[in-house]
Amino acid sequence: MNSRVTKILNIRYPLIQAPLYFLTNAELVAAVSNAGGLGTLGPHAGQKSLPGSRYVALDRMREEIRKVKKLTNNPFAATLINGPDMSFWQPTAEMLAEEGVEVVLINEVLTPEIYDFFKSRSIKILYRALTPSIANSKEAERLGADIIIATGFDEGGTVPSRVIGTFSIVPMIVDSVSIPVIAAGGISDIRGVRAALALGAEGVFAGSLFLTAVENPAADKVKRLIVDSTAEDLLLFRTLPAYYRTLPTGLSPKLAELDSQDTDRETMFKAMNGYHSLWQAMRLGNFDQGVVSTGTGISVIKSIRPAAEIVADLMQDF
Ligand SMILES: Cc1cc2nc3c(=O)[nH]c(=O)nc-3n(C[C@H](O)[C@H](O)[C@H](O)COP(=O)(O)O)c2cc1C
Repeated sequence: MNSRVTKILNIRYPLIQAPLYFLTNAELVAAVSNAGGLGTLGPHAGQKSLPGSRYVALDRMREEIRKVKKLTNNPFAATLINGPDMSFWQPTAEMLAEEGVEVVLINEVLTPEIYDFFKSRSIKILYRALTPSIANSKEAERLGADIIIATGFDEGGTVPSRVIGTFSIVPMIVDSVSIPVIAAGGISDIRGVRAALALGAEGVFAGSLFLTAVENPAADKVKRLIVDSTAEDLLLFRTLPAYYRTLPTGLSPKLAELDSQDTDRETMFKAMNGYHSLWQAMRLGNFDQGVVSTGTGISVIKSIRPAAEIVADLMQDF
């Protein structure tokens, strides 16, 4: 299939496996890329413990990239880690360039030097705002992004702060820019792919579905829970920076109660066990100490499958 997206990214199918933080690793990313999609390494991909410093994180990311390169010759993407004070984008960007990564995913930031750095090295840029808007999409296009990821409120992980679902956000962003738009949020089977394309997206970006891939380092009980659950089982609660969802865990009743009392977002964030929440519950399987975050598209996920089967299933029309 020749589309703008496959040409830009030099891949067979317009399907991107979303970064899922440390719930990605070289095996998953290479399996997706070998199957014709684009695998993406998230922050702390493939790690057995959380790093003590961001320099350690950087070295570990380099190692994981090298592992991917041993497993596939096809393009794959990595996330730019910039840090809240923006002081860290350059060491990460330089490492990605040194390792020959062909595609970078930039979350949020619209700093011209960062775009110039990658453009001057012919590294393709995927831009994904946490809360997509007409303004940030246009600005990313102006700065040189190659593709915009339009993420709807249906997604898993850190949910956008504006409650605009995938069906509404995708055509809004498609009409705002000339570069290709890829749809994210709630796409977990062929029906979601067809719908995204009908809305004007030129490809799809799937996260929750790849949590259930055989290669994913998530705890087995997380994969089984997702397969056994539907969107009706999800609890949506306020936290920092906006919202999160969780399937039932030991913390769910407490989070539901605090949320119903209009508790402030900082207290909610502490109650979910902050940034350790996903590591504890999803990577280690300690359901009493965190949340199991997924999007609302999980109702149609019926089995734990190798990533290559997931790619073939979603791309069956191409
Ligand atoms: C557990 C989890 C962790 C995530 N971590 C990241 C991340 O590190 N970086 C990022 O850009 N997006 C992250 N996301 C969001 C995905 O990139 C993507 O937008 C989302 O999964 C798409 O919606 P879906 O889950 O309905 O497929 C995460 C999503 C989940 C479910």
